[in-house]
Amino acid sequence: MKIHVYEDAAKIGKAAALIFAAKIIEKPDCVLGFATGSTPLPMYEALVELRNLGLINFSLARTFNLDEYAGIDRSHEQSYYRFMFDNLFSKVNINPENVMVPYPVSANPDDDCKAYDATIDAAGGIDLQILGIGHNGHIAFNEPGYVFPAGTHIVDLSDSTIEANKRFFASADEVPRQAITMGIGSIMKAREIVLIATGRGKAEAVSAMINGEIDPMCPASILQLHPAVTVFLDKEAAALI
Ligand code: GLP
Repeated sequence: MKIHVYEDAAKIGKAAALIFAAKIIEKPDCVLGFATGSTPLPMYEALVELRNLGLINFSLARTFNLDEYAGIDRSHEQSYYRFMFDNLFSKVNINPENVMVPYPVSANPDDDCKAYDATIDAAGGIDLQILGIGHNGHIAFNEPGYVFPAGTHIVDLSDSTIEANKRFFASADEVPRQAITMGIGSIMKAREIVLIATGRGKAEAVSAMINGEIDPMCPASILQLHPAVTVFLDKEAAALI
């Protein structure tokens, strides 16, 4: 695990964006894994800037998002599908047909989960994945538990996650209780991972991820076993490492 501590979130966003830009230049038809949340926003802004300067071309890139709330429509202003179009996809020259965000559509959501993993595999696997981290150490929506879930699955959101995400909704009651998420196994199959954490509120989770035991009670701790993880932290998030 390579760990870089930067002054602020904007600098981290630029540094992380350059890793994605390098991947797109090296392999124009690369498969990118994207995340939502407030943490990757500076990176998406920096990617839009690089595109506007004509330095990167998304036309052949394919993307897979980590997760999505269950029970809200894709047109909902807090859906992750909408988040990605609002913050990145509508601002760069990506082909909307190459964009995948998980979404349970059939009567049997387990089939949708298996289909999502099969689509990632058929695309050749994810070359480069961006991750944030939850206050409880979750990655994507893999909540603390007794096992590391392998594939894409439906998950009940923890109280900690509902509490953290209520800022995007009118009240905690409106936060969906379930989500569809790539599993830890799906994430670990990515060839390269960049994780960003900013703010003092993430310091405990970051410390458990880096210095703690590999334990599904801190899902991000599994990243200690991945061969190519780069972690970008600001000073607050790095306070306990
Ligand atoms: C959300 C997402 C995660 C994200 C995390 C942190 O619930 N499912 O992918 O990393 O919470 O979000 P934020 O970056 O807003 O702190």
